[in-house]
Amino acid sequence: MNLSPLQKEIVSLLREKKAILLVHYYQRREIQEIADFLGDSLALCMAAAKTDAEIIVFAGVHFMAESAAILCPGKTVLIPRPDAGCPLADTITPEQLRKAREDHPGATVVTYINSTADIKALSDICCTSANALAVIASIRDAKEILMVPDGNLARYTARFTDSTILPWNGACPVHQALTPEEVRRRKAEYHDALFIAHPECSPEVLDLADFVGSTAAMLKFVRESDRRSFIVGTEAGILVQMEKENPGKILIPAAEHLICETMKYTTLEDIHAVLKDRKHIVTVDEEKRLCALSCLKKMMALSEASAQPR
Ligand code: 13P
Ligand code: SF4
Repeated sequence: MNLSPLQKEIVSLLREKKAILLVHYYQRREIQEIADFLGDSLALCMAAAKTDAEIIVFAGVHFMAESAAILCPGKTVLIPRPDAGCPLADTITPEQLRKAREDHPGATVVTYINSTADIKALSDICCTSANALAVIASIRDAKEILMVPDGNLARYTARFTDSTILPWNGACPVHQALTPEEVRRRKAEYHDALFIAHPECSPEVLDLADFVGSTAAMLKFVRESDRRSFIVGTEAGILVQMEKENPGKILIPAAEHLICETMKYTTLEDIHAVLKDRKHIVTVDEEKRLCALSCLKKMMALSEASAQPR
C-alpha cells in the first residue's frame, strides 16, 4: 500500500520509540491503514495485554485506552485525543451503580467494557459484545444479574439465558438511532441482502436481523458467507475492513448516520503529536486499577480472540 508522508513518519516513529498502534475498526481509514493491530474492543484488550512494546498508542475512545492502562501497568498508554469519550460509558455514574447494588443485594454486576474504570472497579466481571453470552453462562448460578450500562446488549443477552438479567437503561446513541423503518426501507431496496447488526441496536432492529454479533463477528460472518449482499447495521468504520476483505460483495450501510463522532476525532496529526511529545498518558489510580483489573481478567479468561496483526 502507498502510504502518505505523514503515515510513513508515524510508522517510523512507532518503531523508533518501541511503540505499537492499536486501532479500533471505527477509526478513520487512514489510521486503520497503519495499525499494528486492528480489532474490536475484545481483541484490542487481548493485544494490549500481550504486547511487549513499551508504549501503546490507542486509537479508539477513552474507555479502550483506559482498559489498556488497567491491563498494562508497566507500559505507557497514550491516547491521541483524550476528549474522545463514549456517550454510552457516561450513562452510569459510580453513585448510581452503588445505589443499584444496594437496591439489589446479592446481584452480580456484569459491566460492558464500554464503561469507565470507576464503574469497572465497582463490578464483578466485564464483558464485550463478543463474549457477553459466555460471561453470563459462567455465572449461571447468580440470583440476579445487573448488566450495565448498555440496556440493548443486556436485553439481547437475556434472550439466550434463563438467568434474571436487570438491564441498565444506557444506550449507544449511534446504534440506538437506527430505526426499524430505516432497516425495512433498505431491505425493500435490496431484497436479496442479509441484514447484520451489532447488539447495541434496539430490540426492534435486532428482530429484523439475519445475524447479530460484535464488530469482529460481523466481519467473520460476511467473510465466510456465500451470500453476495449485506445491509450493515453498525458504525460505518467497519466498512473499511469489510470492503477490503470482500471484493465483489455488496455492502450497504443500514443508514447514512451510523457514525460515531468521538471515534472520528482522532487524526493522523494527533497520533503523530502524542508519539513525538509522549503526551496524553492514560493513568488509573492503583486501588481502582486493581479492582477493575480483576473484572477484566475474569472476562479475558473466558475469551478467545485475537486482533488481526497487520
Ligand atoms: P465492539 O466491542 O464490537 O468493538 O464494539 C465497540 C463499540 O464501541 C461498539 O459501539
Ligand atoms: Fe460509544 Fe457508541 Fe461510539 Fe461505540 S459507537 S464508542 S458505544 S458512542
